Amino acid sequence: MDKFLIAVKNDINSSLKDIPEKYFDFKKNFIDPLGKATRTRFAYHIADALAIDTDKIIKIASSAELIHLASLLHDDCVDDGVKRRGNPTINFTFGLNMAILVGDFTAAIAFRKANSISSDISFSLADCVEDMSKGALLEENSRYKIISSDIYSEVISLKTTPLFKWIATSCGLISGGSFSRELERISDSFGMSFQIIDDILDISGDENSIGKDTFKDILEGKINYPVLLSLDDDYVRKRIEGFFNDRADLTSLYELKKYIIENGYIEKARDRALKLIEEVETDVHKLPNKKAAVELYNFMYSMTEREK
Ligand code: FPP
Ligand code: MG
Repeated sequence: MDKFLIAVKNDINSSLKDIPEKYFDFKKNFIDPLGKATRTRFAYHIADALAIDTDKIIKIASSAELIHLASLLHDDCVDDGVKRRGNPTINFTFGLNMAILVGDFTAAIAFRKANSISSDISFSLADCVEDMSKGALLEENSRYKIISSDIYSEVISLKTTPLFKWIATSCGLISGGSFSRELERISDSFGMSFQIIDDILDISGDENSIGKDTFKDILEGKINYPVLLSLDDDYVRKRIEGFFNDRADLTSLYELKKYIIENGYIEKARDRALKLIEEVETDVHKLPNKKAAVELYNFMYSMTEREK
């Protein structure tokens, strides 16, 4: 795995290092290209479980990480994020315009990389980014609204899941096209589970460990998963409706955070994230490399226990 992570990082850095400084100085203005490298690790385990040589999917992982990076650069503009991967965001340091344009740039590099594998793979990456954008738009249109669990699921299955699905189905194509149903189910479940944990960390995570600000979602008018679960509770619903109406009473919001943690909604959300992984255990064990399938399952399971 370490060799694979280094190869992906080198592949990304080699695409960014020759960009003339007059556009953006990637060498000086450090952008961590991998972060936790979740998409790279997922790609590695999927390829290994499909019994493909992981050298063949370096460009799949690096294209996915570059699209993820582009989406975070844009997401931080949308969310007014100030910290990402432990560093000040590009929008915070250089302003919105620069962050949007650097995001456009990294997305273009990702498409070129994907196209160097095959036109089918770059075409499906375009579908993936279309879905991610739809998810981000649906989330934007739902801000400061009490959303249903159906809308929550639709947002996540558009904004977060498609990139995992693109990785898995692209690896599937390289391995000869078998197991497409299993790969879709595995990535759907993993994407949803991954986002639920991201939502949990927004409420109960430690800012230094996760490298970004916490308790941002509700302040930005977004109902995340633990909050969604707690909406049946009148105490929570009234406070959220109150805040969404006047966007003023932050004290009551911080009391709410404590209430959500103390009333077990974090554990309930984590249980759902675990269940989503357990639901695809049979699919994972249908993949041909049995030892690597166990490792894939353990990786997905361990992501539900992460603290960052
Ligand atoms: C982070 O989610 C953001 C995403 C998962 C995707 C956002 C998608 C776009 C901005 C559209 C795609 C655009 C391009 C250029 C590929 P989050 O806000 O829940 O996570 P956070 O807490 O880390 O900010
Ligand atoms: Mg965000």
